[in-house]
Amino acid sequence: MDVIVDLQYGDCGKGKVAHYLSHKNSYTHVLRYNGGCNAGHTIFHKGKKFITHHIPVGVFFGVKSIIGSGCVLDPDQFFREIKMLEKGGIRTKGKIFVAKNTHIITKEHITEDRKEKKIGTTGRGNGPAYRDKYGRVGLRAEHVARLKPYLVDLHEEWYGGKNVKILAEGAQGFGIDIDWGDYPYVTSSHCTTAGALLNGLPASAVRNVWGVAKIYETYVGKKKFQPAGNVFNEIADVGEEYGSTTGRRRQTNWMNMQTLERAIHINGLTHVVFSKVDVLRKIGEWAIIDKGRVHRFNNEKAMTDFVTKRLKILGISKSHVFFSESKETI
Ligand code: IMP
Ligand code: MG
Repeated sequence: MDVIVDLQYGDCGKGKVAHYLSHKNSYTHVLRYNGGCNAGHTIFHKGKKFITHHIPVGVFFGVKSIIGSGCVLDPDQFFREIKMLEKGGIRTKGKIFVAKNTHIITKEHITEDRKEKKIGTTGRGNGPAYRDKYGRVGLRAEHVARLKPYLVDLHEEWYGGKNVKILAEGAQGFGIDIDWGDYPYVTSSHCTTAGALLNGLPASAVRNVWGVAKIYETYVGKKKFQPAGNVFNEIADVGEEYGSTTGRRRQTNWMNMQTLERAIHINGLTHVVFSKVDVLRKIGEWAIIDKGRVHRFNNEKAMTDFVTKRLKILGISKSHVFFSESKETI
């Protein structure tokens, strides 16, 4: 299994990396391993833009795509998405599956979540669905009649005798992880490499772990995140920083090296992709936050060299670090 994790607050370009890796490698499965339809994955496929919330990118390549037991599923959204993909020319038949022990987001969960005010959730029922799962009063996919044709048993899927090669695609990000994020301004699931394992996979299954970050940070939610300064509004404008699920404007800041280092350690990264280098290039300012201070650079190369050196100390060699300036590829 190769795992893709977001190192910041979501929206760093996991969809793009998943798209890239599934072209490069021959996976038998793509697994969504956490979260619900709070996620919004923007994928540019053959020149067309798609936004998916539940369904993993494998479907764009005809690879078996599974929504895992670490996720929560809104059946209405699931069927809407299948329709949207079919309409966009993507064949979904026999390609999309749901683990039978995945928990369901009910209408009541959504109604409750829409009233939420403190965290600034996406209002998609995510938190209440996980609460009921752990409160042992939840509903599983196996008990929803219209999901029957899509159900799989993950144990049979992984250990059924065939060789499996999995791409595990996370949702949200390390900075809003339930344990490692800035609690309570977090989501309700495990956004880490460990979260991928919760879908019936042993630690020894992990091959590469690809981390995705932005060259600056964005966050959407109730806490104050963006510092004073017009440059941050400019970054949001140039970077088109609006949530793909809720349309809310994302707050921005410079990339924080310590957030990144924590994420690299805790997720056991082997590769890192930095997205949106083209955005800072248009802005013409290069800075990061390191040990609580803003550290400015004269040019792009000075900044990418600095970051690359730091990653090397953490065991990630230059050939495993990518600075991406395209929406479609790394
Ligand atoms: P929830 O996951 O809807 O409960 O929202 C909790 C927090 O996570 C809020 O700050 C959301 O804006 C944020 N969030 C949830 N999903 C995503 C995502 O896919 N990308 C970015 N932020 C997210
Ligand atoms: Mg997103």
